[in-house]
Amino acid sequence: MPDELNRRDFLKAAAIAVGPVALPARGANEKVNIGWIGVGTRGYAGLDWMHSAAPNDVKITAICDTYQGYIARAKDRMQTIWGNAPATYLDYRDLLADKSVDAVFIMTPEHLHHDMTIAALKAGKHVYIEKPLAHTIEEGFDIVRAWQQSGKIVQVGTQNRSSSLYKKAKELIQQGTIGDVHYARAFWYRNSLPNDPAWRYVIPPDTNPQNTDWNRFLGPAPKRPWDSQRYFQWRLYWDYSGGISTDLLVHQTDIINFMLDKTVPRSCMASGGIYRWTDKNDDREVPDTLSAIYEYGDDFHINYSCYFGNERYGYGEQICGNDGTIEVMNRQDLYFTPETFKGRAPANVKARQPIHLNGQKDFHEGDGAINHFRNFIQSVLGNEKPIAPPPVGQQAAISGHMATLSFKNQKKIVWDEAANTYHFV
Ligand SMILES: NC(=O)c1ccc[n+]([C@@H]2O[C@H](COP(=O)([O-])OP(=O)(O)OC[C@H]3O[C@@H](n4cnc5c(N)ncnc54)[C@H](O)[C@@H]3O)[C@@H](O)[C@H]2O)c1
Repeated sequence: MPDELNRRDFLKAAAIAVGPVALPARGANEKVNIGWIGVGTRGYAGLDWMHSAAPNDVKITAICDTYQGYIARAKDRMQTIWGNAPATYLDYRDLLADKSVDAVFIMTPEHLHHDMTIAALKAGKHVYIEKPLAHTIEEGFDIVRAWQQSGKIVQVGTQNRSSSLYKKAKELIQQGTIGDVHYARAFWYRNSLPNDPAWRYVIPPDTNPQNTDWNRFLGPAPKRPWDSQRYFQWRLYWDYSGGISTDLLVHQTDIINFMLDKTVPRSCMASGGIYRWTDKNDDREVPDTLSAIYEYGDDFHINYSCYFGNERYGYGEQICGNDGTIEVMNRQDLYFTPETFKGRAPANVKARQPIHLNGQKDFHEGDGAINHFRNFIQSVLGNEKPIAPPPVGQQAAISGHMATLSFKNQKKIVWDEAANTYHFV
């Protein structure tokens, strides 16, 4: 058990869900200066979302990336959307040395989250760190400890917690709309044509070892020669990613935890493989097919599945209560459907009307990302509490890591709450 972080502290920290408030003595016109680390797919889109989230409260003064093409693209976008030209850095440690930067957004591959988050906290910055919190369970606990010692605001990028649709679903469940809950299904299904394999994202044609800093990308990962596929398609390799478990599944176990006030499952049994994307030239390592069964300590069960060869059912979470179902599909549609008991529903269940809410129509939201950014900035300003601080991000990540560990070891994994660690059975 990590000495400084016993189970009680971990759960308490998650329940309090707040770091000390910061930036107490800022002038009315003073903005939060932001350094943006990683302007790839997520980081680049985030520059726009931040403009919607907090246009008057922040200034993006610095960006950092190890691929020159993305730095140039981000500078361009900054000029168009924000009308300023941030300083640019290749090495995130140089950005962190800039004393005028108050907070950083870390939008880099998973294996870099640990070192970057801890260095940022040590440099006195507030941190928005993309999910998963870290690449391993142990690294995640390091971040939780560093956050506890730092007095800084940290928000983990599990943005569904900030979505009005999921907040509504939580409220309905808490009101007893679906009765007792012991069972949930969650799934993420995708498909693409044979010439567009899953997660083989486009590699910029101009990339080369001169304009793309391979060693800084590798960071703490094992050294190996330049490989543009690994750089731009890092999700497919264990050194940098947990694959489906930490990319997609964590969002879903996280939001089920949120809706049902759960924390960490007691066990996980995962199974799957590379079944669809098997071209002999495709050196992917992570599965394209994964199922995971989670048992929680209080008679609750999650049945999870993901497959990259059929998208008929999209993605979502279905909370199957004894009196009805609440489901959130594709982060856009919330449905409540009462049980009918084959025409014999008790009067109180019969009286409940089905509900359908749409994120765009009813809340003017794509998903929770913009709200999540705003909640982070308002927390830095001392006006709110972050909805996804590190203990909560760690709980989400543990579910993902449990699935990866179970899959790789072909064994059931059990989370030991007392020791804050795991074993296989
Ligand atoms: N919350 C969500 O819904 C969501 C969605 C997509 C991605 N993400 C997360 O965002 C993160 C980034 O994912 P992505 O899809 O944008 O990946 P990406 O590969 O498109 O972008 C990563 C960026 O990091 C840069 N980079 C790599 N090493 C670096 C280093 N040492 N210093 C600075 N920059 C470096 C790369 O050049 C690239 O621009 C991941 O943690 C991912 O899980 C979250």
